[in-house]
Amino acid sequence: MSDAGDQKTKEQASIDDKFFPPDAIVERAYVQGLSGYKDLYERSLSDPDSFWSEQAETLTWHKKWSSPICKYNLNIENGPVNISWFDGAETNISWNAVDRNVEAGLGDRVAFYWEGNDEGVERTVTYAQLKSMVCRIANYLKSVGVKRGDDVTLYMSLVPELPAAMATCARIGAIHSVVFGGFSAEALADRILDSTPNVVITVSGTMRGPKPIPLKAIVDEALQISEGKGHTVHHVLMLEQLPLSDVGGSMKAGRDVTWREAVDSQPDDCPVEWMPAEAPLFKLYTSGSTGKPKGVLHTAGGYMVGAMVTTKFVFDVQPVSDVYWCTADCGWITGHTYVTYGPLLLGATQVIFEGVPTWPDAGRCWSIVDKYKVTIFYTAPTAIRALHARGDAFVTRYSRASLRLLGSVGEPINPEAWRWYYEVVGGGRCPIMDTWWQTETGSHMITPLPGATPLKPGCATLPFFGVEPAVLDEKGNELQGPCEGILVIKRPWPSMMRTVAGDHKRFEQTYFSAFKGYYFTGDGCRRDSDGYYWITGRVDDVLNVSGHRIGTAEVESALVSHPVCVEAAVVAVEHAIKGQSIYAFVTLMTGSEPSDALRKELIATVRKVIGPFAAPDVIHWAPGLPKTRSGKIMRRVLRKIAACEEDQLGDTSTLADPSVVQQLVELRGK
Ligand code: WTA
Repeated sequence: MSDAGDQKTKEQASIDDKFFPPDAIVERAYVQGLSGYKDLYERSLSDPDSFWSEQAETLTWHKKWSSPICKYNLNIENGPVNISWFDGAETNISWNAVDRNVEAGLGDRVAFYWEGNDEGVERTVTYAQLKSMVCRIANYLKSVGVKRGDDVTLYMSLVPELPAAMATCARIGAIHSVVFGGFSAEALADRILDSTPNVVITVSGTMRGPKPIPLKAIVDEALQISEGKGHTVHHVLMLEQLPLSDVGGSMKAGRDVTWREAVDSQPDDCPVEWMPAEAPLFKLYTSGSTGKPKGVLHTAGGYMVGAMVTTKFVFDVQPVSDVYWCTADCGWITGHTYVTYGPLLLGATQVIFEGVPTWPDAGRCWSIVDKYKVTIFYTAPTAIRALHARGDAFVTRYSRASLRLLGSVGEPINPEAWRWYYEVVGGGRCPIMDTWWQTETGSHMITPLPGATPLKPGCATLPFFGVEPAVLDEKGNELQGPCEGILVIKRPWPSMMRTVAGDHKRFEQTYFSAFKGYYFTGDGCRRDSDGYYWITGRVDDVLNVSGHRIGTAEVESALVSHPVCVEAAVVAVEHAIKGQSIYAFVTLMTGSEPSDALRKELIATVRKVIGPFAAPDVIHWAPGLPKTRSGKIMRRVLRKIAACEEDQLGDTSTLADPSVVQQLVELRGK
């Protein structure tokens, strides 16, 4: 981003350039026109009990909630932060997502069209088959002693068994923790040590594009690490995707079983556990500003309502006619809410894809769209930019006539990518839902609605029902009208995280201490004269690389774990495809000399400690780092040096040793 004046012009251009929903979209939409949205939005804030009851009643509850529908305290000055929704109620999200559809006579409807990494490798799973799969896995888990409240870790590729295993945990009241298959053994071990499961569910190995990923071997190593640190996992269930002998990894007698021996023979009937609305549903580890990822905890009732309502209104899902495809992996929150739970709660048919958008070539997504007649397509800006870079021909080669709605998530989408997505991919017919939300929020927070919201390229537009955003200045004053500042939320919404697993203090500290009485999002934003919100990116030490959240502190502590690295400071630089890339300043032990081999070793260390997606693009040798007299690293200065903008350093009078800056500039590119 350049200066404010430049941004103004861009914004002005975008304001003048609104994209109104086509009639065909409006006609079938759940919410029609901006006034339809506004009426419902006002009601959601002025009468949350009636609004949320009405939504929640479209799902099945074993026991109804008491009034008020939400009890909370968000202000730490008034005591501990607590949030509860649908108190007194009991439900089961797995029953609602799976059984309910079967009982409604939709057992033969396709739940998943699964498309494997290689073309021609595919499976279809109906709702009835899904139910049977879930029940069998449930009976296996019960046979090894898993019960309500127990943790289960899932480290899998995107096969139907992954959402099924998630729904299985939910069915028996166990708490799932899905770890993305791109995390390293050490990162997996950290997550296992935090949630202490007795069971891990995994896959032998899989192909991502041309590359084999040895998931089971990684689990083996992670379990060894966790055992060394005091936690033993007694059971590993493995789905044989690629032959184990091809990808590596072994079966440990007494601990490891294959799907075939342990699950296939189980009875395909298993009762559900009716769970209190506030019972934990899952933990999902995400990055923050410290080195230790936090287990974001979501609960059964509120999360279920949030997932269902947003999927319904934001994508206007009509289960009979839509084929929905969200490209996210279930290892991230988008895969939790908009692959596993949201679409299934609506009885929708969806595509899930194990591979990558560029394999075997950059036309793969559009070939899949045509193959399954996908109507709703939801992906991340980084994928859009990567495909844009390969040229239009990969897109226009396919018809894409079935598409009617597009979605974007994970990072701000730049207007250029938005326009390409809109014009070329969507052929100018398909509104783009730019959905802003977070692991912590559980579901969409600021987003257009297809038949209601005029779009502006690069803008997440307006708050979803029940969401009351505010923009604060640095001192915590609420700004009015058009403004730029820090995005906070003023009241709880059903799918809000309830705590950091095992560390409620950290929950309060991270989200409720900076600005009393508000939920702090960590994002900056701009509100324009139409009241539209433009997310400008993180204001804390969190990086967003290809839509993946990574803490600077995590990467720094990985680098420092290398024996010759004494200190590291990581900043983000803009990247044309990834959005941001990681730029690391590294100070070596006295006596160690910079070299290409060492650079490779340092990058390999980060891959090993966190995972390949967190690898720095640049290692900048730094004899010293710019620090204040109190020893705090001035990242602002490092960002400018990394971006070759040292002429715009701003005030450096607090630097303990100003000569460091010149030294670093001279070492750039060395
Ligand atoms: C960013 C992903 C702009 C934001 C669902 C947020 C976005 C972080 C958008 C959460 C969007 C997500 N526009 N920025 N549409 N969506 N972000 O927890 O910085 O992986 O705080 O959740 O991604 O990332 P997370």
